[in-house]
Amino acid sequence: MTAAETIQLTVNHPTGHYPVYVGHGLLPRLRQLASSRGPLAVLTDSNVGPLYADQLAASVVLTMPAGERHKTLATVAHFYDQLLAAGLDRGATIVALGGGVVGDVAGFVAATYLRGVNFVQCPTSLLAMVDASVGGKTGVDLPQGKNLVGAFKQPQAVIADLDTLTTLPAPELAAGMAEVIKHGLIANPDLFEQLDGGRRTNDGGSDTFTGSVQALRPAAAVIATAIQVKRDVVEADPFEQGRRAVLNLGHTFGHAIEQVTGYETGHGQAVAMGLVAAANLSARLGYAPPALQGRIERVLQRWHLPTRIPSGCQPAALLQAMGRDKKKLDGRLRFILLRDVGDVFVTSDVAETAVLATLQALREKI
Ligand SMILES: NC(=O)c1ccc[n+]([C@@H]2O[C@H](COP(=O)([O-])OP(=O)(O)OC[C@H]3O[C@@H](n4cnc5c(N)ncnc54)[C@H](O)[C@@H]3O)[C@@H](O)[C@H]2O)c1
Ligand SMILES: [Zn+2]
Repeated sequence: MTAAETIQLTVNHPTGHYPVYVGHGLLPRLRQLASSRGPLAVLTDSNVGPLYADQLAASVVLTMPAGERHKTLATVAHFYDQLLAAGLDRGATIVALGGGVVGDVAGFVAATYLRGVNFVQCPTSLLAMVDASVGGKTGVDLPQGKNLVGAFKQPQAVIADLDTLTTLPAPELAAGMAEVIKHGLIANPDLFEQLDGGRRTNDGGSDTFTGSVQALRPAAAVIATAIQVKRDVVEADPFEQGRRAVLNLGHTFGHAIEQVTGYETGHGQAVAMGLVAAANLSARLGYAPPALQGRIERVLQRWHLPTRIPSGCQPAALLQAMGRDKKKLDGRLRFILLRDVGDVFVTSDVAETAVLATLQALREKI
């Protein structure tokens, strides 16, 4: 594959389908790729807008402050005001240009403004490319918790321009890799193997593991394969009634670690620890071979991700935080466990003592 090639996937959903493009130099081609006519309203954030908005021939560029704490109804209301002031009617297309925060907010605006207008996703973070931009879930946080208000809104197209990753801060790139590794673990052993060795970049980057995480930028094919895993899962369960839960591998633990560290631990970094914990718990309960944990740790380390839970996180506090997670089913904690790479299942039948033992075993030793 040369750097110039664009990979195209198709996502089917209950009312149609849309293309996902992965490649270089795609933003200026948005109109053609998304077959969009009419005015474009680009919704972006204060980091991404100044870097890339001028590549889209937008009628209007509307900018929110960057960061999860602005993923709120107030930001949504502010966008409604600005769209109305710009005179945008139902013929307009809303374009999300940014990471998962912008994608979720802009998608919710597109789902609700004038009862819904066309929507295009241009994810610019690795996490948004491989996870948030595909599947149609949009929404915002409330003071009571994350993602508590939202809507399903399918885009016309997802355009992942890999050139944008050159400016993505290294910790954000690593965070996205945690989800890529997760997708390999959920359903694609070949992807997981590829992340464990072999060539990583498609543009002359380093083959070694000694460089910075930026030098380890994943190849277009790796990103496309990770998107395919998400695509296959959401196609099988478009409204999150069953199978989609497997996408939460590592997340029951991860969310608890985020909470207990007061969000000092980034989401991707917490998910990385959560993947190790899921493997540890799976082996402890006899589902997975004990060696699986070590394999996962090796891949995470190669992509500059942590594998141990910060020593300040008390197991009991983490367990309590898990109890508050909204992904509980019928009041029981729900875990995604592994039998092997590419073989995961959902269960609520896990003894708290086993969970506590895993949390204790993975705590960083001081
Ligand atoms: N809808 C879904 O299915 C789904 C799935 C997973 C996650 N999410 C949501 O996604 C959000 C997390 O997404 P995220 O990790 O992309 O966070 P983010 O959108 O906050 O982006 C991370 C940071 O990187 C910056 N950034 C993004 N792209 C950049 C680029 N190309 N160059 C320079 N800076 C750039 C952003 O401004 C931000 O500061 C969460 O709100 C989460 O709930 C949604
Ligand atoms: Zn995640």
